Amino acid sequence: MGFSSRLLLLILCIFVAILTEHSFCSSSKEEVSEVPVDFLKFAQTPEFSDWIVSVRRKIHENPELGYEEFETSKLIREELDKMGIPYKHPVAVTGVVGYVGSGEPPFVALRADMDALPMQELLEWEHKSKNPGKMHACGHDAHVAMLLGAAKILQEHRQLLKGTVVLVFQPAEEGGGGAKKIIEEGALENVKAIFGLHVDPSLPVGEVEGRSGPLLAGSGFFEAVISGKGGHAAIPQHSIDPILAASNVIVSLQHLVSREADPLDSQVITVGKFHGGGAFNVIPDSVTIGGTFRAFSKEILMQLKQRIEEVIVGQAAVQRCNATVDFLSEEKPFFPPTVNDKGLHDYFLKVSGDVIGTKNVKEMQPLMGSEDFSFYQEVIPGYFFFIGVKDAKAAKPVSVHSPYFKIDEDALPFGASLHASLATRFLLQSVSETPLVNQNNHDEL
Ligand SMILES: *[C@@H]1O[C@H](CO)[C@@H](O)[C@H](O)[C@H]1NC(C)=O
Repeated sequence: MGFSSRLLLLILCIFVAILTEHSFCSSSKEEVSEVPVDFLKFAQTPEFSDWIVSVRRKIHENPELGYEEFETSKLIREELDKMGIPYKHPVAVTGVVGYVGSGEPPFVALRADMDALPMQELLEWEHKSKNPGKMHACGHDAHVAMLLGAAKILQEHRQLLKGTVVLVFQPAEEGGGGAKKIIEEGALENVKAIFGLHVDPSLPVGEVEGRSGPLLAGSGFFEAVISGKGGHAAIPQHSIDPILAASNVIVSLQHLVSREADPLDSQVITVGKFHGGGAFNVIPDSVTIGGTFRAFSKEILMQLKQRIEEVIVGQAAVQRCNATVDFLSEEKPFFPPTVNDKGLHDYFLKVSGDVIGTKNVKEMQPLMGSEDFSFYQEVIPGYFFFIGVKDAKAAKPVSVHSPYFKIDEDALPFGASLHASLATRFLLQSVSETPLVNQNNHDEL
């Protein structure tokens, strides 16, 4: 950078500083980074840490499935009441939407998902799930605790808020499409941007990972019933065998990705469910198969949907079977791909770098997993990132959705202060009218 451009930058900085009282140019870095640095210190005090850990443990002990998060929702409202934060409830059955700040625009949203998984916790510890067959194995208990932590930080520092932070406690992320219902109930009206996070058990505590553009795949589900004609296993000529037909269907489905997709475009089709027959010597009447498909654009998802149906029906017919295919659009709506706004990515790098140090902010590769946060990003610019919760004492990290899933609770204050910092500075910067959001991000698909 030449002397004249530095001079120009300096003049610009002074100008912006006068306009907004809060400059974001590098020449006044200390002043700027005070906001997030204070937040982390605040969240790491023993009093705050003990509280946020106890909140997470209460939710962990009482996991509830999508749209049944009644006790979780009650706990959230009780904590918000204690903080003196107003909220709307119910939103999307069990959801809670809180408001911190001036009550005036601009609005920025932070989101946490509340639901657990239908699986038995096998990890033995003091705060193990008390609900048989239900477990917070995807860290949504931590997400809720982190957002309540952010609420507490923001409320304590509300004089800093140049606008309003919308706290979205969302039900039913695990396939229920709770985000879609939250939007339908108008919770994001006038909101300029939304941030969300997810725990990552392979990333050390104090680190985060993010990416600009496509981050997580879009997904759909299917279930097919393949009908033949049951009979004695030793007299196949009098039967129509749906087990063999379903097996060929599954093999043919594999060719959609290997032979019809662009090898440079990532797609997945997995059949995870195969139910048929119950005896060694009986050909059953029918077989039910089910699975999921993933892709990084809505267009490809729709193509896959069409081909999955054609292949199942066509391949079943080759073997004289009939097939019906259901894409379960009510119970398991399609998730769009999760695509991070470019402007918000740059902003995230800056703010999280100030909170936890630039070296702890990592660039990540896209994943074929999916997230209903993507519904928000279809409506307003949004940013989704991952936060380290790795249990340093564990021999090897236990993945999400494992019955032994475990997090290091020291991560909770990091999540709370990152959320709070991202929202606070977003509002400050919105007031300064620096364009943050790159509205064109969907073109990258
Ligand atoms: C398939 O459907 C046709 C038309 O309804 C029916 O005639 C046939 O018996 C069915 N075949 C099997 C194997 O279910």
